[in-house]
Amino acid sequence: MARLVLGVAGGIAAYKAVALCSTLVQRGDDVDVVMTDGAQRFIGALTFAALTHRPVLTSLWDAPETIPHIALARSAEAMLLVPATANVIAKLALGIADDLLLNIALATRRPIVIAPAMNAAMYDHPATQGHLRTLAERGVAIVAPETGFLAEREVGVGRLAAPEAILAALDAVLGRTSSLRGQRVLVTAGPTREPIDPVRFLSNASTGTMGIEIAREAHARGARVDLVLGPTLVAPPPGVRCVRVTTAQEMFDAAIALAPGADVAIATAAVSDFRPVVAHAHKVKKDAAPASLELERTPDILATLGERKLVKFLVGFAAETRDLEAYALEKLRSKQLDAIAVNDVSVEGTGFGTGENTLVVLARDGTRTDLGRAPKAELAIRFWDALARARVASTEAPL
Ligand code: C5P
Repeated sequence: MARLVLGVAGGIAAYKAVALCSTLVQRGDDVDVVMTDGAQRFIGALTFAALTHRPVLTSLWDAPETIPHIALARSAEAMLLVPATANVIAKLALGIADDLLLNIALATRRPIVIAPAMNAAMYDHPATQGHLRTLAERGVAIVAPETGFLAEREVGVGRLAAPEAILAALDAVLGRTSSLRGQRVLVTAGPTREPIDPVRFLSNASTGTMGIEIAREAHARGARVDLVLGPTLVAPPPGVRCVRVTTAQEMFDAAIALAPGADVAIATAAVSDFRPVVAHAHKVKKDAAPASLELERTPDILATLGERKLVKFLVGFAAETRDLEAYALEKLRSKQLDAIAVNDVSVEGTGFGTGENTLVVLARDGTRTDLGRAPKAELAIRFWDALARARVASTEAPL
């Protein structure tokens, strides 16, 4: 099926790369295995050579006439790094290339999938987490490690992800470049600001990151993407057409104007539900401040898109702290959506303004896909995979 480079780094989980390699070979992939020095202390190169029927590459200096790192970087359709140790992750993030595996990773322009596995403290370390964020921003697919029994005989996060998860991520990147080709995708993202006066406003803690990652991934899959983005310091992804807005009304106007003919619209924006009835033209002086603010509702962008049937497939987000799925299903019906992504904002370290999220996608046909907890860039990949299935199901299900 695919030509792959399987990079194996020096961690105890290297033995699991053997089973993965065998699965890849059995399903017909051509696999070139590259091992670090550390990996060879755990597993013999012969094991991989016997499985793949190809020489295992371990050194930059073995066959200089073939320039193996450039040749492999060019010929492979994707590179898998299993396990990715803290050391390799750090070097990848920094662009250090002091062995064959890292040279290939730096030279390739093809997708890279990494499955980190290490001690829990090393995984949680801000340095490792920072490097993982850098890699995710660069488009590296990260298959998050699981929580479970570690080699240190303690339970923690850092166990290599299950082979199915690694294979799913690999398949996603292999099919990724074209799955939305020719389609138009509209995304709303970020907060809105509702002015009280020229310096004060009502808003919320959204940074727009989830929507930005969803737009980035849609673009990576070949879609033409319009991103209507509220005020945030997070940069919109390159290649995406971005319309900057401030208020809910501006976001409404831009989204409604861009919606007709879109194949999919994703409303991730945390739109302010209320705005002051009066926005003062000049800064209100402290002593002249009114005792209360009179508020009115802002227009509901998502509900309007649903009511007017402006797009072919409409997806909302629901950020809740309790009874998540019941509220979300109610929203799915009342706003006439095709699917809704539910996000538990009460989970520590996830949700607004954080790097991670938890998401469950509920589709109109009743299917439920738990995307788990992951960095937002990784969730965006899982989100589009789930949506692809829901869209197929929706064309088969009666309306
Ligand atoms: O009803 P609720 O605000 O919880 O619904 C959330 C969903 O509706 C999100 O997808 C959000 O982007 C969208 N929304 C909107 N316009 C509003 C309020 C919410 O598009 N004014």
